[in-house]
Amino acid sequence: MGTAVRSFAKINIGLAIGPLRDDNFHNLRTVYQTIALHDVLKVDIGRGTGIEIRCKDPRVPPDETNTCHRVAERVLRSAGQRGKVTITIEKKLPVQGGLGAASSNAVATLLGMQRELEQTLQPEDQLRICEEVGSDLPLFLVGGTVLGIGRGEQVFPLEDLPEFHCVVVTPAIAISTPRAFTDWDALRHENGATSTSKPAYAASEKLTNPADSDKLISFSRTVYAWLSSGYRTSSGVPHLNGDRAEAPLLDLVRTGIENDFERVVFPHHPELRDIKRVLYGQAGDSARYASLSGSGSTIYGFFDSKDAAEEAAGRISAMGHPAQVTKTLTRKEYWNQLFV
Ligand code: C5P
Repeated sequence: MGTAVRSFAKINIGLAIGPLRDDNFHNLRTVYQTIALHDVLKVDIGRGTGIEIRCKDPRVPPDETNTCHRVAERVLRSAGQRGKVTITIEKKLPVQGGLGAASSNAVATLLGMQRELEQTLQPEDQLRICEEVGSDLPLFLVGGTVLGIGRGEQVFPLEDLPEFHCVVVTPAIAISTPRAFTDWDALRHENGATSTSKPAYAASEKLTNPADSDKLISFSRTVYAWLSSGYRTSSGVPHLNGDRAEAPLLDLVRTGIENDFERVVFPHHPELRDIKRVLYGQAGDSARYASLSGSGSTIYGFFDSKDAAEEAAGRISAMGHPAQVTKTLTRKEYWNQLFV
């Protein structure tokens, strides 16, 4: 028996990294968007005790460092229940790929366990567990188009973007997010962020450049401009002869929303920049918007039509990189499709 859960991926539409905080996380602003690509998790709870993680992919740790393990023990504790939890992960999403797979797997564990236990934790307990385990978990308690602030764990549902055709390129490059943040700090330091005595990227030091804070404010304004100006008029009626998909894509391009991680990841992996360039391709079947997701190495592009997306995926596959055509998932679709 057990409960099977689709563990959907996310992409980041823009990501502005702000100052390093006292807890050694960075303040950031991002828009998360869930997409249809997913792993499948099976959650079983039987007699006995212990947490077992099964996955054929050797890169997925079976021990207590696994985000699913960390969530499972917290769910049992919060629910005041005992049992032997077995989580079987059918891995299709890349590991350390910028698609939030480990975070999504962990939230799927939480949701699957609640079904198995026939007990729903208080929303605040669910959120607390997710926040404790990682910055990218809470977004999967919301789904659809989500604003992320703080260290990314404070999440707010945005009005869903319309469904986009999307090409998701997953090069065989694993990127460590903590390392990417450290590289960002080093870059900021080189570019003149004022620190006190030690280098700004040392763990105990904070970046004090006001530009880091200004960038977060400017990101918020950009997102506001993007979301409010384009695809809804003040009356709430969509623009452009009812084509809801067209306007937000154009606005996205116009406002130039960007992912700061590109500035530290692309120099190390120039092939990722090439992939982005190919997604933009030739006029006619070019991506409306293309970007690195999270700290990568996933690069995605939004396309006007499925044909254009398939065309672009073909070009990228010919370069030797895995490329899949998929769609963005609205909040409603996310929740409707979550349980298999
Ligand atoms: O929260 P999560 O486990 O995803 O974070 C992993 C690491 O990434 C943190 O330990 C921290 O080094 C870095 N990080 C950060 N700022 C964030 C999120 C993560 O510096 N907003």
